[in-house]
Amino acid sequence: MTFSFIEANSFLKGFMLFLRPGAFLNFLSGPLLFASNTIRLSRWISQQPRENILNDFYQPFRDYAKRHQLHRYVIEKAQIANAPIQYLEFGVSSGQSFRWWLEANAHPDSRFYGFDTFEGLPEDWGFYKKGAMTSSAPVAADTRAEFVKGLFQETLFAFLKTHDLSDGRKKVIHMDADLFSSTLFVLTSLAQHLNDGDIVMFDEFNVPNHEFQAFRCFSESYYMKMELIGAVNNFYQVAFRIVK
Ligand SMILES: C[S@@+](CC[C@H](N)C(=O)[O-])C[C@H]1O[C@@H](n2cnc3c(N)ncnc32)[C@H](O)[C@@H]1O
Repeated sequence: MTFSFIEANSFLKGFMLFLRPGAFLNFLSGPLLFASNTIRLSRWISQQPRENILNDFYQPFRDYAKRHQLHRYVIEKAQIANAPIQYLEFGVSSGQSFRWWLEANAHPDSRFYGFDTFEGLPEDWGFYKKGAMTSSAPVAADTRAEFVKGLFQETLFAFLKTHDLSDGRKKVIHMDADLFSSTLFVLTSLAQHLNDGDIVMFDEFNVPNHEFQAFRCFSESYYMKMELIGAVNNFYQVAFRIVK
């Protein structure tokens, strides 16, 4: 009896699963995933343009305040300083970046939506434990601002039923939820509402197993073309333009 390559492959795979390596090698799954995603991230970074865009790679130290340099750059490139926008921020906490955007765009027809549990992270994120970053919803006197309290997974679909995100105003989606699950959920939920020219920003993009992995799963699964506009802090904060 002769085995073809495909049969041998199928036999070995079945036998390996029968041996249940997950029962005693599970401790390797985290480090191996991290190593794999870091390699992918590094390859992705090496493929990004350096000329004619904001890109500070490589910097020895992170300056978190630099993210507003990226935000200003996005506003200038997308020409939205005086245009009506729909700004959706996922992960608001005390509202630092949310308030910055409210002040940066004064158009009366702009709307600013901030989504958060306001009870902190729903899962552990690295050294941050579930519940970290708890903050009461910020108070915004600006009537253009609205906060949506709860898990994205429980609030976003209802929001999308009552808000028209394709009415011509450019959307700025600000992903600052840190977690893979939260980021992937939001991106996939918004996929059909993303139009040419919309902006998607990430606040912790270069964390291999979280925002970067969510971006990769999303852009590859939805065949979504996302063109890099700018990156600061070694790709910690990045901004993309949707191309359709
Ligand atoms: C890094 S903080 C946001 C910081 C804020 N953008 C700023 O710059 O000040 C991350 C926030 O994401 C929220 N978050 C993460 N996953 C979430 C989810 N699935 N649903 C709702 N909120 C979530 C957490 O509650 C936390 O407040």
